[in-house]
Formats: sequence, structure tokens, C-alpha cells
Amino acid sequence: MNYYKYYKSIILICLCFLAVANANAQSDWEIPEKEQENVSFIMFDDDMILEGSIAYENSCTSCHGTPGQDDYMPMAPSPGDLASDQFQEQKDGTIFYKIKKGRGSMPKFEDVFADDETWNIVAYIRSFNKNYKQPIPDLGGIIIPEYKLKLDFDENVDKLVVKVFSKEIPQAEVDVSAFVKGMFGKFLLGKTQTNELGIAYLDIDPQLPGDAEGKLHIMVKASKGYGLAKLNQKMKMVQPTIHKSAIEGRHIWSTDEMAPIWLKTSFFITIFGVWTILFFIVIGFYNIKKAGREDLH
Ligand code: HEC
Repeated sequence: MNYYKYYKSIILICLCFLAVANANAQSDWEIPEKEQENVSFIMFDDDMILEGSIAYENSCTSCHGTPGQDDYMPMAPSPGDLASDQFQEQKDGTIFYKIKKGRGSMPKFEDVFADDETWNIVAYIRSFNKNYKQPIPDLGGIIIPEYKLKLDFDENVDKLVVKVFSKEIPQAEVDVSAFVKGMFGKFLLGKTQTNELGIAYLDIDPQLPGDAEGKLHIMVKASKGYGLAKLNQKMKMVQPTIHKSAIEGRHIWSTDEMAPIWLKTSFFITIFGVWTILFFIVIGFYNIKKAGREDLH
């Protein structure tokens, strides 16, 4: 009996199964109509895009690569590049739903990100599409309160003071979160709520690295229901940081002129020592030669 024949047919059958399974997996996602029409009730802004980029970097780059670079992981079904034209044709609600629910090797992120965090990711993905126009949400007659923020720093207790108003009236029970903008994204200072006077206090660690004037770039977000306000402000809060450049001062990696004194000294001592030894060796040879010549006489 020729077992080879069997092997061949078994492999062929397996391949067929895989192909069918694959084609099946790549079929269209089933997105409920209502979910497709879902839109963000907040207009995407730079802050959301920044937050989304951090979440994307941490949770999506491993498979989807950097949007627009076509450097996604080669797997079947393909994760694809989320900046591609074909992908970007989809509705916001569809993208939102796919991220939340996942499918196959695409993880579901429903339990990882809150809805607003998922919208941040959508905002980030949309930032790669120049032709994108964000749909205006239909709030069904709900009036969105307009919040105004005022920031102060109480240096006696190292606290950031956030006052929230709507039409000059202080607003209680508004969620307030504050961040410091750094070189690599932003750092959460804290989250709290305004008191009955419309004021929220957040601790500031005096050890935080400020700029040369001791200023921090503070980003504050206040939200309650559909109401949302944001404010960015540079405030003097900490000790100034003097940033020395790596080539300033004398270092072992500096140029000749700026090399550390000890390095220069030991360099010259070594050179001097080597030449002295060479000098004595030459003198030694000369003496041997001289002694030999004297012996001949
Ligand atoms: C472990 C790898 C992996 C990770 C991590 C991952 N994905 Fe996916 N993603 C996939 C795969 C594979 C598919 C294709 C699934 C399919 O078609 O059945 C996919 C599909 C998608 C789709 C639908 C693509 C389309 O063409 O409609 C979206 C949207 C998506 N991913 C977004 C994300 C986001 C956002 C994150 C991070 C929060 C993420 N993915 C993280 C593997 C991954």
C-alpha cells in the first residue's frame, strides 16, 4: 500500500478546511444597524487624539502596526492598516463596535476601555484621514451646558484650585481631572469632583519637574453628563529645573578643549612617563655600545 497517497490527500483536505475557515473568518462583520449609527457626542480634538494615540500605542500597535505604515502583523485574517482608504470608509459606529466586541484573534476591548476611551482611539484612527468629517451628534433636544474653568495655584498647600462655572454660576458635582503635559504624553495628577461652591482641589507634588521658570503645563478637563470643558495653562507651581545639555561642562566624552582636567593631567603624565622610559632605554643601549667599544681597546 502506498501511504504517501493517503498523506497527500489528508494534507489536501486539511488545506481545503483551512481555506474555508479563513474565507469564513474574513466575511463581513455583523454590526447591528443601531450600532452603526452610533456617533461620539463629543467633537474630536487634539486632546482626544493624544489620549487615543497613547492607548493605541499600548494596545493595538503590536498587531495593527503604526497607522499608514502598512506594518501590521502578517496573520489570517489580516488585522490590516487602520489608516487605509478601505478601512476609513466605515462609519464611526462600526469602528467603535468592532473595537468593543472584537472577533477571532482581534481581542474585545469592551472591558478594557470605557466608551470615552474607545472614542479617543477612534479619534486617533480618524486623524489619519484628511477627508474625514465628523458627524454631528443628534442629542434629541438635550441642551449641553457650557462650562468655564478657572485655574489657580495655592502655594501654601501645594494645591491646584479648579473653579467650574456655567454662566457665572458655580457648578457642583462636576468631575474634574488634571494632567501635566510632559515630553511623552501626559501624566495624571488626579481626579475629583467640585464641591458645592463649584471648586475642586488637586494635590501638586512639588518634586515634579517644571521648566526653567518652575512652570508646569497643566491640562484640566471638567465633565458632567454631556457638558465638557477643557483648559490648558502654564502655571508656576514647582522649583525651576535647570536642564543642562549633555555636552555642557567638562566630560570624558567632550572635545579636547573641554575634557576633564584629571583626564588631561593623567594623559600628559602617561606620555611623559613613556618618553622618559624610552629615553633611559636609549641611554642604556648607548652605554652598552660604549662599554663594548672600550673592551676592544
Ligand atoms: C492580537 C492582535 C490584535 C490586537 C492587539 C488588536 N487587533 Fe484589531 N484586529 C486584529 C485582527 C486579526 C483583525 C481582523 C479580524 C477579522 O477580520 O476577523 C482585527 C480587526 C480590527 C478592526 C476591524 C478591521 C476592519 O477592516 O474593519 C478594527 C477596527 C480593529 N481591529 C481595531 C483594533 C484596535 C483599536 C486595537 C487596540 C485597542 C486592536 N484592534 C488590537 C488583531 C488585533
